Amino acid sequence: MKKYVIRGGNPLEGEVRISGGKNAAVAIIPAALLVNGVCIIENVPVVNDVILLTKIMSNMGAKVSFLDKTTLRIDSTEIHTCAAISELVRKMRASYYLIGALLGRFGNAQVGLPGGCDFGVRPIDYHIRGFEALGATVTIEHGIVNAVAENGVKGTSLSLDFPSVGATINIMMAAVLAEGTTVIENAGKEPHIVDIANFLNAMGAEIRGAGTDTIKIKGVKELHGGRYEIIPDQIEAGTYMVMAAATGGRVKVSNVIPKHLESISAKLEEIGVTVEEDDDFITVSREPSQIMNKVNIKTLPYPGFPTDMQPQMSTLLCLANGTSIVTEGIYEHRFKYVDELRRMGAKMDVDGRVCVITGIEKFTGAAVTACDLRAGVSLVIAGLCAEGMTEISNVQLIERGYEDIVEKLRGLGASIGISDDEPQISEKTGENAG
Ligand code: UD1
Repeated sequence: MKKYVIRGGNPLEGEVRISGGKNAAVAIIPAALLVNGVCIIENVPVVNDVILLTKIMSNMGAKVSFLDKTTLRIDSTEIHTCAAISELVRKMRASYYLIGALLGRFGNAQVGLPGGCDFGVRPIDYHIRGFEALGATVTIEHGIVNAVAENGVKGTSLSLDFPSVGATINIMMAAVLAEGTTVIENAGKEPHIVDIANFLNAMGAEIRGAGTDTIKIKGVKELHGGRYEIIPDQIEAGTYMVMAAATGGRVKVSNVIPKHLESISAKLEEIGVTVEEDDDFITVSREPSQIMNKVNIKTLPYPGFPTDMQPQMSTLLCLANGTSIVTEGIYEHRFKYVDELRRMGAKMDVDGRVCVITGIEKFTGAAVTACDLRAGVSLVIAGLCAEGMTEISNVQLIERGYEDIVEKLRGLGASIGISDDEPQISEKTGENAG
C-alpha cells in the first residue's frame, strides 16, 4: 500500500501553482451530461475523484478524453443509459450530481447512493426534495436512487432548509432544461456553485443570481457545446498557505482568486502570519521564530470559514501559543483525525462539535493513517514541521483531492517520499526502524 514518508523540519520556500477546483470539476463533469454536444473543459485537476467520474461517464456512453494534461473533452451526444450503479459510483460523494444531470436531460435517473469522505451521516434529503418539487418521483431501493419525471421536469419555487452546496448545484442541474422557471431560495453561495452556473450559462443555460441567496433558472430547450475554464481550487490554495505558515517558510501561492480565500487569509493574519495579496497570487510567510497566536474558529457556509479547511487550520493551531477553540458548524463528526494528530503530540480535546486545542512546541514524527481527504492532508502538514520522520498510510484518500501533492511539496523544498513497503519507522519513536 502506498504511503508518504516525510522528514520534517524544512521551511517551505518558493512558488506553488494551484490546480483547478476539485469540487467544481466533480460537478462540471457530470453537468456535461446535460449538453447535447462537445464540452472542452480546461484547468481540470487530475485527481482520483476526477478520474473516477470520467470512467463512470464513459461507461454511460459519453466520449471522454484528455486533450492535454488539464483539458478534458466530453461529448455527451450519445448517452445510452440513465443508470449509473457500478461500484465506482459508491466510491465518491459527488456521484450524486449524476442524478440531477440525468434527470435534467432525460427525466430519468438510476444512480447508486454516493460514498465519499466519512465524517458522519451525509444525507441527500434536500436534493431529493428538490427533485420532487421539480415533478420527479424519487424512490430508494437496494442502495439505488430512482428519479423519474414522467411528465417532464417542471419549474418550481423552493427554499432549502440549509444552504447545501450539493443540493443547490444538483437542483440547478435538474432545472436547467425544465419547462418554466425555477427559483432556489436559501441557496449555497460557494465559489464553485457560481462556477457551475457559469459553465452551464456558457453552454446556453439561463441561470441568474448564483453566488447570492436566490438563484433563478429559466429553463431552456437545449444546451450546446462550448469551452469553459474551471476556477482555481480555494481549498488546495488554503492548504498550501497553512503549510507555509506551519513550517515557518515563505510561499507564493499562484493561480488563485484571492477573494475566495478571504476567510482563510483573515484567520492566518489573526494568528500572526504575514499574508500579501496580489491579483492572482498570495504570498504567505512566517519567520520560524515568530510566535503564533491562539484564535477561535467556527466553520460556516461561504463566505464563512470553510469546513474543508478546518482540519488543516486546527493542525496549525496546535503550534500556536495558548488555547484555541474550533467549532465545526457544518458536520457533526469532523474531528476523527484528532486521534492521529495526538500520536504526533497534539493536545486536542473534542466534545461534540467543539475541539479545544492547547498549543505545543512541536509535533513529533509517527506512523499515522489518513481517515479522509482533508484529515489526511493535515497529517502531511504536521509531518512537514514535525521532529523526525512521519509515515502516512491510506494516502489514496489525499490523492482524491490534491493533484501532484508530492511533486508540488518537493518543489517547495519538502523532504517527502513515496513508499509501497511495510512500515519503515518505529511507531514508538517516529525514527527510522532500521
Ligand atoms: C460539499 C463539498 C464538501 C464540503 C461541503 C461543505 C463537494 C463534492 N463536496 O459537500 O467538500 O465539505 O460541501 O462545504 O462539493 N445536508 C443534509 N441533507 C442534504 C444535504 C446536506 O442534511 O440533502 C447537510 C450535510 O449533512 C451537512 C450540511 O447539510 O451537515 C452541508 O452539506 P452540503 O453543503 O450539502 O455538503 P456536500 O454538498 O455534501
